[in-house]
Amino acid sequence: MPEAILALTDITVQFGALKAVNQVSLSLMAGERRAVLGPNGAGKTTLFNAITGAIFPNAGRVMWEGGEITRMSPQRRAHRGVARTFQITNLFGQLSVAENMRLAARGLSASKFALFGQDRLSAAQSAQVAAALAMSGLAGQEAVIVKTMSYGEQRQLEVAMALVGTPRLLLLDEPAAGLSPSERGRLAEIIRNLPRDLTLVLIEHDMDLALALVDSVTVMQNGQVIVEASPSEIRTNALVQDVYLGKPHEVRLSDAPTY
Ligand SMILES: Nc1ncnc2c1ncn2[C@@H]1O[C@H](COP(=O)(O)OP(=O)(O)O)[C@@H](O)[C@H]1O
Ligand SMILES: [Mg+2]
Repeated sequence: MPEAILALTDITVQFGALKAVNQVSLSLMAGERRAVLGPNGAGKTTLFNAITGAIFPNAGRVMWEGGEITRMSPQRRAHRGVARTFQITNLFGQLSVAENMRLAARGLSASKFALFGQDRLSAAQSAQVAAALAMSGLAGQEAVIVKTMSYGEQRQLEVAMALVGTPRLLLLDEPAAGLSPSERGRLAEIIRNLPRDLTLVLIEHDMDLALALVDSVTVMQNGQVIVEASPSEIRTNALVQDVYLGKPHEVRLSDAPTY
């Protein structure tokens, strides 16, 4: 059997008495696209934080490409190809698209003065920036000031910034939150067209959007994994309907947009 590219084993993250993530195990094959679903407070973002190194788990192991990264810094993980977007927008509104991208590229460079450097990106970095903008549907928008963009375009820019180091794992935390239906459709297209060898984990509140984009689904509740299944199994899973949707399947499908 081929080895998983990402493997979490019995991850527990505790905040005081609360186990925000409680003994979660999960593994992904290279190129797999996984949705993590679940109600607010289920522990999805905390699980992302354990994968990126924003927090270290109280127990358990994170293995990435065959090596243990459980207590590795986020910066080192980023260098090993682990990238993420944030649930809350994380852009410099007064700066241009190109300047935000430069900061993202610089954030990955080794120098601690990188963020303040006046020097230009290397040719390789510039090529990565151009490729990341193209993949995110923002080619040609380099000079645009971020705060003048629509919210949807800003979320696209966040995807571009996460793609700039050519990651091998991309974690998207509610990328479609707050978007209009047409902006959602556009973002779904962008995610669908990402390179097939990029391993993807998508936290998304919009279940129809998520299920249209992934190969497999993990459903969390109260810090634990309650279901792991294919998108088609999730659509008809009674437990998921109960805890996550809280309304009958037919009603949900009747007003479901198609992505
Ligand atoms: N830094 C923190 N300190 C204390 N509690 C936290 C912290 N981060 C998250 N939590 C709590 O952990 C639980 C899981 O949160 P979170 O991972 O953000 O859930 P989700 O992303 O699924 O909505 C929630 O009860 C939340 O209030
Ligand atoms: Mg969250």
